[in-house]
Amino acid sequence: MPPTPDSGFDRVASFYDPLARLVYGSALQDAQQWLLPHIPAGASVLLIGGGSGWLLQQVLQKTSPKHILYLEASEKMLQKAKQLNPGTPVVSFRHGTEADLLPHEQFDVIITPFLLDLFPDARLAELMQRLCYSLAPNGRWLFADFWPVQHNPPFWQKLLAKSMYLFFGFLSNVRGRLLPDYSRHFTSLGLQEQHSAAFYKGFVQAKIFEKG
Ligand SMILES: C[S@@+](CC[C@H](N)C(=O)[O-])C[C@H]1O[C@@H](n2cnc3c(N)ncnc32)[C@H](O)[C@@H]1O
Repeated sequence: MPPTPDSGFDRVASFYDPLARLVYGSALQDAQQWLLPHIPAGASVLLIGGGSGWLLQQVLQKTSPKHILYLEASEKMLQKAKQLNPGTPVVSFRHGTEADLLPHEQFDVIITPFLLDLFPDARLAELMQRLCYSLAPNGRWLFADFWPVQHNPPFWQKLLAKSMYLFFGFLSNVRGRLLPDYSRHFTSLGLQEQHSAAFYKGFVQAKIFEKG
């Protein structure tokens, strides 16, 4: 299959999960697990940028959606997700980005797990607009990402963010250089924050937004 514009995680697919666990312990997984009770039974779900598929496994074990579209830009990550979740008729796997969503596709729930931090401001605005278009009225956007709770984050958080952008910029072609102002993007799309939780001493947040 041809590479997607965001296929840079192919290069780190074999060690991304152990590396995340080495640096953050269980915090990144805890933040994503916190989202699961917010998936209503019978929902149609878009899971975009899910990586190796461990979150998909959790969604399948702990919730009962009608359908899940697993959309992943990295072919290697997608293969891992398929291997980890074989024989799951409720899931459609798709290699691609938000640009590969079909105009008529609508979801009750969209999950962006550690995806939105990858993009510079203008691209992030486009991506979020595209996702919002596919979110059904009253739909939920389940967000987990690096989002410091404090307006002026401590030095170690700034250093960690900078190191990640350097590392993944070099290895995975991540174009973002700074943690985005997520709040401005969600507000401009008219999405309302409903619930929130903080992890890893306030460096990571999980949030539920609702489309009015
Ligand atoms: C930082 S990793 C996070 C992986 C996983 N969510 C986790 O937390 O373990 C970001 C993932 O998003 C995927 N990705 C990047 N840009 C994407 C896009 N535009 N559409 C779909 N997937 C994308 C990457 O291939 C990668 O697997």
